[in-house]
Amino acid sequence: MVDMNELDSLVTSARESFARCATPAELENAKAQFLGKSGRLTELMKGMAQLSPEDKKTRGAAINLAKQGVEAALTARRQALADAELERQLQAEALDVTLPGRARGQGGLHPVSLTLERIEQIFGSMGFDVADGPEIETDWFNFTALNTPEDHPARSMHDTFYVEGGTPEAPHLLRTHTSPMQVRYAVQHVKRHRHLIDAGQPMPEIRVIAPGRTYRVDSDATHSPMFHQCEGLWIGENVSFKDLKVVFTDFCRTFFESDDLVLRFRPSFFPFTEPSAEIDIQFQQGPLAGRWLEVSGAGQVHPNVVRNMGLDPERFIGFAFGMGPDRLTMLRYGVNDLRLFFDGDIRFLSQFQ
Ligand code: PHE
Repeated sequence: MVDMNELDSLVTSARESFARCATPAELENAKAQFLGKSGRLTELMKGMAQLSPEDKKTRGAAINLAKQGVEAALTARRQALADAELERQLQAEALDVTLPGRARGQGGLHPVSLTLERIEQIFGSMGFDVADGPEIETDWFNFTALNTPEDHPARSMHDTFYVEGGTPEAPHLLRTHTSPMQVRYAVQHVKRHRHLIDAGQPMPEIRVIAPGRTYRVDSDATHSPMFHQCEGLWIGENVSFKDLKVVFTDFCRTFFESDDLVLRFRPSFFPFTEPSAEIDIQFQQGPLAGRWLEVSGAGQVHPNVVRNMGLDPERFIGFAFGMGPDRLTMLRYGVNDLRLFFDGDIRFLSQFQ
């Protein structure tokens, strides 16, 4: 009388029907066919009205069991559909974290900048200040204040880049060396210590280097229209050529990390120093051993220049030098063409990282 097979197959058919549903909406429709107001289970419940109390009990329990089976199948299918939907979303939004990133090239300092840093560090350790000055200069600081006469060849239009903005009497130009920084820096220093100087008291010594870009009409494997210089200046009441030798020798040996490096001071001429010298260095080891290599101009600051600094040349004296950081870089790394420094070729530059 109680057909259990009928209930079992009802649960099975519910499970199959739910399994065919691909979306939550379809599933809700399928659910209505079993559990809805006129669903198959509901109909079975209604059909119990005529049964005896005895049969009602058994039949009721069986139908309830079937109902639980259908509900469990429904819940399981709901969960499966929700899981599938979540999985689909995760797939759609997936980031492939194993994809190699776009590498950001690691930059580095230019070899000449590395040299300038090194120069600043070594002279800094010897008590030198580091100063910076304009690349567009006046004719006064670049030439006149440096005792360079009107008819000096460096003043010719062919050797120097003149720029607009000056007057015929006071032209503007791209500085041809860093020496204008001697007077620029000294004038400021003297201004700050005027009261001491006038009172006959000791003035703190001027000790400065001034690295930077310089310009000349010149271009070949060892000359570039733009190049670097580093000026050095030491002025005091008791500073001599001997101090220049000591300081510069110390600098070169430290810079090239070579204790047996030899220096030669070769007599030369500059309008703003007297006496003047070219400084040559000689390595005792390595590929350049034995050759004399010019690295700097130098000399005792000319009395006229000391006067233009605002100081009495009878009381103040000192030395200056002007070296070529590009040249020092070529020697340090064994580069034979200066132009490589200014071509901006990454293959060359990345070798110094
Ligand atoms: N300014 C000189 C040059 O270019 C170098 C120099 C600097 C010489 C200081 C003597 C003293 O060539």
